[in-house]
Amino acid sequence: MSEKAQFKTKLGLIAATVGSAVGLGSVWRFPSEVQSNGGAAFLLVYIACVFILGIPVMLAEFSIGRAGGSDAVGSFRNLAPGKKWWLAGALAILTSYLILCYYMVVAGWTFEYMWQSITGHLYEPIATGASDLSAQFSTRMSEYITDDINPLIHTYIIIALNLVILLFGVQKGIERLSNILMPMLFVLLLAFCFVSLSLPKASEGVEFFLKPDFSAITPSVVIRALGQAFFSLSLGMGVLITYASYFPKDTRLIKTSFSVSTSVIFVAFMMGMIIFPAVTSFGLQDRALNGPTLVFATLPQVFEQLPYSQLWSALFFLFLTVAAITSTISIAEVSIAFMQDRCHMSRKAACFTVLLPLFVLSTICSLSQGSMSSVTICGMTIFDLFDYVTANIMLPIGSILLCVYLGWVAKKQLFKDQLTNNGSLTAHSYRIVLFIVRYIAPILIAGILISSFINNE
Ligand code: PHE
Repeated sequence: MSEKAQFKTKLGLIAATVGSAVGLGSVWRFPSEVQSNGGAAFLLVYIACVFILGIPVMLAEFSIGRAGGSDAVGSFRNLAPGKKWWLAGALAILTSYLILCYYMVVAGWTFEYMWQSITGHLYEPIATGASDLSAQFSTRMSEYITDDINPLIHTYIIIALNLVILLFGVQKGIERLSNILMPMLFVLLLAFCFVSLSLPKASEGVEFFLKPDFSAITPSVVIRALGQAFFSLSLGMGVLITYASYFPKDTRLIKTSFSVSTSVIFVAFMMGMIIFPAVTSFGLQDRALNGPTLVFATLPQVFEQLPYSQLWSALFFLFLTVAAITSTISIAEVSIAFMQDRCHMSRKAACFTVLLPLFVLSTICSLSQGSMSSVTICGMTIFDLFDYVTANIMLPIGSILLCVYLGWVAKKQLFKDQLTNNGSLTAHSYRIVLFIVRYIAPILIAGILISSFINNE
């Protein structure tokens, strides 16, 4: 029997895939991208990217994983023996690993926020007398994040938790946990959305988020929206290839891709509806807010409006930590599956080989928010550089390779068999999906990538 982590039930598979997709990308990264890229215009382009490009590319990844039946490199090897296509899988593994380095750090922040909500420290007035609530929460945030030691401790806790879960209990631990906690996160988001919308001046925030100014759609907005769409759907990093290799033969890929995409859009949309009314209501739109502060400094102000604010706050950050961990284990699983399948390591050795170096790499990312923030490359801190290069450059390149392979190199029957479960389903959308994978996706993604270089982003 393979030692690889396996999910037991069909529902568990969907929960795990949704768990991988729904994470910091939709909750933390999305509002920040909306804020700095034109509000509703970004939302619109983002949704278009998910439906027009994201779903077809997701189907391509699922198909390669289920047909190839192995890790990202192994699946390409099995499907195209003796060819260099395995390099596309190798790029995916590298991208996913780089993402893991900074994703662990942000997951550590959420964990710290959960802890500080429970202890009440987050809501204690600042001794030095911050002028108002938002100043107080911003101060708290920089206290937590730009400190050198605290974020590191929490990042290490998250890495250790990943290690334990991946070693012992993907099935019993994370599958069961996400089955219960993910639906609860959805309900909680609905409740917070209700609170946010009832704040004074909420409508201005809703307008910023929902009323598009089409002139704001610039090439850079499109690049960012595409990066966000692919990041939030966990595309181009081998995660879906690896997970799909655990899919049973009767899993309906098209249906699964819709469940995943709609969950991701739902969470992102709810987050926008929570954050932006709060931003306008608390008069924060004029402050030079940068992305990360939205969830960590703005949201606690919403919780403050509620009775038992500490409880809501702790719950929110607990769910966010869980959502982050269901994502990190999926990203780590890409490299672990590779180590097991290609390097013939035991599960235990693979887990340690993949996770131990992160203690060093994530430390660098974490410190680049603190005492190493003056170290910049191309004007970006190491943390921002990892984020930018992976989401906006490596990920699109990986996705183009995937589309070219499935659309042009592999036998057409392969994709069709996967989408129709060897002909037992009728998939009317097959032709349109194939058309997108062959022509639209690679050309559009390449165009966007090239224009990002021309714009010198
Ligand atoms: N989709 C996850 C999120 O939105 C991040 C992720 C990226 C997970 C790549 C797996 C692979 O947080």
